[in-house]
Amino acid sequence: MTSILVTGGTGTLGSLVSDRLRERGHEVRVLSRHAKPYAVDLRDGAGLDAAVEGVDAIVHCATAPRGGDDRAAAHLLAAARRASVPHLVYISIVGVDRVPLGYYGVKRTVERMIEEAGESGPGWTVLRTTQFHDLVLRLLAATARLPVLPLPSGVSVQPIDTAEVADRLAELAIGPPAGRVDDMGGPQVRPLADLARAYLHATGRRRPIVPVRLAGKAYAGFRRGAHLTPERAVGKVTFEEFLAQRLG
Ligand SMILES: NC(=O)c1ccc[n+]([C@@H]2O[C@H](COP(=O)([O-])OP(=O)(O)OC[C@H]3O[C@@H](n4cnc5c(N)ncnc54)[C@H](OP(=O)(O)O)[C@@H]3O)[C@@H](O)[C@H]2O)c1
Repeated sequence: MTSILVTGGTGTLGSLVSDRLRERGHEVRVLSRHAKPYAVDLRDGAGLDAAVEGVDAIVHCATAPRGGDDRAAAHLLAAARRASVPHLVYISIVGVDRVPLGYYGVKRTVERMIEEAGESGPGWTVLRTTQFHDLVLRLLAATARLPVLPLPSGVSVQPIDTAEVADRLAELAIGPPAGRVDDMGGPQVRPLADLARAYLHATGRRRPIVPVRLAGKAYAGFRRGAHLTPERAVGKVTFEEFLAQRLG
């Protein structure tokens, strides 16, 4: 049995990673701002030393899309170094180096910080995946509160099942540091409008889909498909299968 700290272990991905690791007989410490006894705000790092003390690996799933992930990573890396933690696994996103979106830029910075932590830092593994089915569902559900469904035109996504990502992260966490591993993409690249129709069908709603052309370089990157990895379409669960499971 190994002892593994999962940051963001109460979140969508982190909770599944924690479950997987426990099922395999590992001791799991869950860290988030609200998860006792490891209630730590990574942006200030207070209490982090106790959380990392004696762990064999850290799976870093915590994130705050509104900002501060780079500061959080600096605290985590420093604590990991002080405690000589041998392995840090980080979950990133396909295209963080190609789509000029603020959140992606911060994730690329965090990747670099982990990669460049050097000899005194933990060994590392970085996995990039495409968008989770959960995220697409959340975005569509929020948009469908309107009488029409406005969607960025010309954008496709390749959503993946969060449980499949959790399986892979758990596997990586109990293995040796592997560096940047192969990207993981969902089974299908689908136009957003196509996924929206699947969502409307599964929830018995009717809404006209209104394509909206947006400005900006990030949108251009998404239109180009810089966040996709069709050659690594390794996920199995389709968006429709996910919806059937989730919405019963
Ligand atoms: N969603 C996607 O489509 C997708 C795709 C590829 C990669 N990823 C990556 O996967 C990771 C997990 O995403 P997710 O969707 O599972 O996130 P999530 O559900 O929003 O969970 C975020 C977690 O981070 C914790 N957290 C937030 N701020 C914190 C702070 N300052 N200190 C400590 N803990 C903090 C939250 O708990 P508290 O609120 O209790 O602090 C929560 O447990 C992220 O790195 C994300 O970039 C996501």
